[in-house]
Amino acid sequence: MAYTVPPLPYAYDALEPHIDKATMEFHHDKHHQAYVTAGNNLAKGTEWENKPVEEVVKGTFGKNPGLFNNAAQHFNHMHFWKWMKPNGGGKIPGELEKALKDSFGSIDKAKEDLVQAGVTQFGSGWAWLTLKDGKLSATKTANGENPLVHGGKPILGVDVWEHSYYIDYRNRRPDYLKAFFDSLVNWEYVAELFGEK
Ligand SMILES: [Fe+2]
Repeated sequence: MAYTVPPLPYAYDALEPHIDKATMEFHHDKHHQAYVTAGNNLAKGTEWENKPVEEVVKGTFGKNPGLFNNAAQHFNHMHFWKWMKPNGGGKIPGELEKALKDSFGSIDKAKEDLVQAGVTQFGSGWAWLTLKDGKLSATKTANGENPLVHGGKPILGVDVWEHSYYIDYRNRRPDYLKAFFDSLVNWEYVAELFGEK
């Protein structure tokens, strides 16, 4: 089945004041749609047409940059909408909270390392909470790349392309990241992905 942009799981203005309606409209309706359209066009008539997106991401990495970037960005954004929620960033479900403490030392340190990964990603890319070999770590990647191609599972990711924060925060990426982790993360969805192992 060709890729499609899933509807936002909340209203376009639901993440205000942290991310405004115009950013969400452009990001979801224009940017994500552009990745889906390009990905479908590039996959058409190839061995990757109608393959699950994770399989395409892993299989095209380092081999077919055009399809890889668009399929990976489709995967990343599909989750990104669900990694946020209105009034997010609150209590972390027990098992995940324990795993974060075991891996990072404390929840504050986990958030600090995740913000730092996003701040230090030079140019466009993503910061990730990655599950690999039973351990959680904060990682970062450029452009559309994600932990799937490095043997990890991304259980939380934050988009640090300027299109995700420039209207609200201009060049203040650290403030966007702080708002993301303090007020937007949907920890229930992160816990769901963590529980899948
Ligand atoms: Fe994005």
